[in-house]
Amino acid sequence: MTSPKTANETSATAELRREYRYGALSEQDVSADPLQQFTRWFDEAARAQVLDYSAMALATSSGDGPSVRTVLLKGLDPRGLRWFTDKGSEKGRALRANPRAELLFHWRELDRQVRVRGTVTELPDDESDAYFYSRPLGSQLAAATSAQSQGVASREELEARYRTLSDTHSESVPRPQDWGGFLLQPDQYEFWQGRESRLHDRLQYQVVDGGWVIQRLQP
Ligand SMILES: Cc1cc2nc3c(=O)[nH]c(=O)nc-3n(C[C@H](O)[C@H](O)[C@H](O)COP(=O)(O)O)c2cc1C
Repeated sequence: MTSPKTANETSATAELRREYRYGALSEQDVSADPLQQFTRWFDEAARAQVLDYSAMALATSSGDGPSVRTVLLKGLDPRGLRWFTDKGSEKGRALRANPRAELLFHWRELDRQVRVRGTVTELPDDESDAYFYSRPLGSQLAAATSAQSQGVASREELEARYRTLSDTHSESVPRPQDWGGFLLQPDQYEFWQGRESRLHDRLQYQVVDGGWVIQRLQP
């Protein structure tokens, strides 16, 4: 009996491709306001039941170089896009050192990608409190248990800390001081719609003289 070949042995990875036929994106279709355009696509992703459509890759860059991870969008309005995290984490430290960052959404069922670049600030404590205390008790306990991104000796140690906290807190846990929200205020958006034969549509919005200007980019 021969063992199954790995993807690399069969070059299967290099052969993976599909045509993007879901739709097109033209200058006439899009809103002049990128937030409105984003909201339109975000709602379409929700209606299409894209799994985890609020998940976004957050790219930061600091003295150590670039770094990227997934976080969940928890709100958007004219001030920007926000998410919550442990601000003492690697991403938190990177953002405090360099507040320029980019968010990326990939809605594969719609052959769409959106990039949002901007400057990040910290949300005020009352907004972090409001969201923290709206979370299930288990999530609050986990946040209070974990110094995100720091090493730990074992899974058991984490679980023991969690149990100790949950024994003494049955309704809520005080929000850890460094746990809270970040807000990215966009100054650049890019909407990408996959097209047949890789001749994709890319429309980029940039702030010029205080207003949004749209430019088509080559795919
Ligand atoms: C789908 C998904 C959603 C996530 N949402 C969050 C989030 O909202 N906040 C967060 O701090 N980490 C979230 N994470 C975990 C992060 O990707 C990451 O592991 C963690 O924040 C530590 O990142 P850092 O060490 O770069 O700071 C999520 C991961 C996945 C896969």
